[in-house]
Amino acid sequence: MKFHSVAIDGPAGAGKSTVAKNLAKKLNYIYIDTGAMYRATTYKAISLGTELDNPYDYGFLDQTEFIFKNGELYMDGVNMTVLNRQKQVADNVSLVSSHVPVRNKLVRLQQQIARINNVVMDGRDIGTVVLPKADLKVFMIASVKVRAKRRYEELKALGITGQSLEDLIEDIQRRDDYDSSREYNPLRQAEDAILIDTSDISIEEVTKLLYDKFMTKIKGEF
Ligand code: DC
Repeated sequence: MKFHSVAIDGPAGAGKSTVAKNLAKKLNYIYIDTGAMYRATTYKAISLGTELDNPYDYGFLDQTEFIFKNGELYMDGVNMTVLNRQKQVADNVSLVSSHVPVRNKLVRLQQQIARINNVVMDGRDIGTVVLPKADLKVFMIASVKVRAKRRYEELKALGITGQSLEDLIEDIQRRDDYDSSREYNPLRQAEDAILIDTSDISIEEVTKLLYDKFMTKIKGEF
């Protein structure tokens, strides 16, 4: 049986996760939030007292279980949705996700999931590295201000306060620079990805647009 996949990449707060979640629901596919896996890895590394800047100190990943249920990540049986949003995690996730052994391990797990499920997957390197043969590739962007505002509302909805809009703008800019300039698998648009600027269109419109594009694309197969 052939499984289908949609790859959605882009910088933090471009609207990837909401669009990916909605699209997965519409298609009855599994939503895989790969950023949550890098965040959870960072959370566990901090909890274990790992030397965060040592790429070879992440052996614990071999004994770590990642499971997605209803779009939410469970690491070793624990729901990571709120834990993943801690500031300490946001401050260190770009460093952790720049390590080659960490990326190799998580990319392999992501590929394993897509091999046996229909997926909508979002992240930074899905169209370029994880699923280079995805049926549809999307690269979503938006202005920094719009992205920080979305993060602000997202955190508020989770009951997490304490970071101002200015803090979030700074955090997003810092992570954008780091994620796009890292040597190994940096954030970049795949050549065959559709570019969508979500600054001025609603998430619902983007979801509909992608759903139509995807259906047209795979229709030829039946
Ligand atoms: O999507 P997010 O903001 O939750 O991702 C958190 C961090 O994880 C982000 O700063 C970069 C990293 N990341 C990555 O390097 N590769 C991915 N496929 C997904 C996320």
